[in-house]
Amino acid sequence: MPVKTLKDIDVKNKTVLVRVDFNVPMENGEITDDNRIVQALPTLQKLLDDGAKVVCFSHLGRIKTREDKKGKSLDVVARRLGEALNREVVFVPHTRGQALEQAVEALRPGEIMMFENTRFEDADGRKESKNDPELGKYWASLGDIFVNDAFGTAHRAHASNVGIAAHIEESAAGYLLEREIKHIGDAIEHPKRPFVAILGGIKVSDKIGVIRSFLQRADKVLIGGGMSYTFMKAQGFEIGESVVEDDKIDLARTLLAEGEGKLHLPEDFKLTKEFSNDAPIRIAARDDFRRDEMGLDIGPKTLARYGELLSDAKTVVWNGPVGVFEMPNFAQGTEGICKALAALEDATTVIGGGDSAAAAISLGYADQFTHISTGGGASLEFMEGKPLPGIGCLDTL
Ligand code: 3PG
Repeated sequence: MPVKTLKDIDVKNKTVLVRVDFNVPMENGEITDDNRIVQALPTLQKLLDDGAKVVCFSHLGRIKTREDKKGKSLDVVARRLGEALNREVVFVPHTRGQALEQAVEALRPGEIMMFENTRFEDADGRKESKNDPELGKYWASLGDIFVNDAFGTAHRAHASNVGIAAHIEESAAGYLLEREIKHIGDAIEHPKRPFVAILGGIKVSDKIGVIRSFLQRADKVLIGGGMSYTFMKAQGFEIGESVVEDDKIDLARTLLAEGEGKLHLPEDFKLTKEFSNDAPIRIAARDDFRRDEMGLDIGPKTLARYGELLSDAKTVVWNGPVGVFEMPNFAQGTEGICKALAALEDATTVIGGGDSAAAAISLGYADQFTHISTGGGASLEFMEGKPLPGIGCLDTL
């Protein structure tokens, strides 16, 4: 059932509680990738333009103890948000209490504030992550309407996304959540065919559900990245020192049987003797690994073959890089896939979040696809066809 979106709510003069996912990567207290902030701006801008009083909140990192709170304040994020919106974002360094309530009370239409990391509530007993009903109810009491724009967290049932929705009169999806539902949802439920899925990343174990989902839904499934070697070992090939999950060999065998005729594995690889960008490289076929070599990228024949398999695609979903793209000498496979997708005319191309999104963006292809998801685990679960609690809790039309 379709959920309410921004066009279905009247926010003028209302206090709107907006859950965003600003769980952004940080290094030494600096944000290293602000994509999630940038992607949430249209929702925040629309609410501000329409005269809402906006209270924005997010988690950052994982908190189990008071010690874990160090370096996890959202103050830096609130500052960056203020720069991006080009207006003041009042930051309240608390998750509850009088100072927070007074700041909410003081907001005027068209003003925005942010409060502290919702997972600080986990430092003394996992109230946020366990969806403590009192906490959801308390946060809901601060506003009139709940807008969820935190797709990256939609696979979690926490107090700040699901709990709030249960205790507030009206709730809706923001533009970002709406876009994710539309693009990933349409691609997996109503794909134009041929529908091709590309799955990479290190571990088969992280992707079992999504491999099975695509073996049922897609017309072709192309495998790359570290998980290729577990499949190859299952087929009896020598894989040298390549990364492998020995306890998933039987599973890989089962998936190979289930995917017969549909599941495609790389034919050649870039091999080295060291996990280093500068190590000498040998390109070799899949039956030509030496015992002291490891595969770090797909080879040119595989790229050409995958290019052919993709050439008539009308829908492509990609999750997981096909090589160690962080090292320039092993980024060609992943970049080649970016190029092949960017060249497709008339195709819907959806990139799953996490590493594949980071790869597509860092290699300069951010604008070349129909949609790049902001969710890691959430986009994986959505692609598996699992219902996401952060969507299921919203008002429906
Ligand atoms: C993510 O980065 O995938 C989301 O923000 C969810 O974070 P979590 O896995 O810590 O719940």
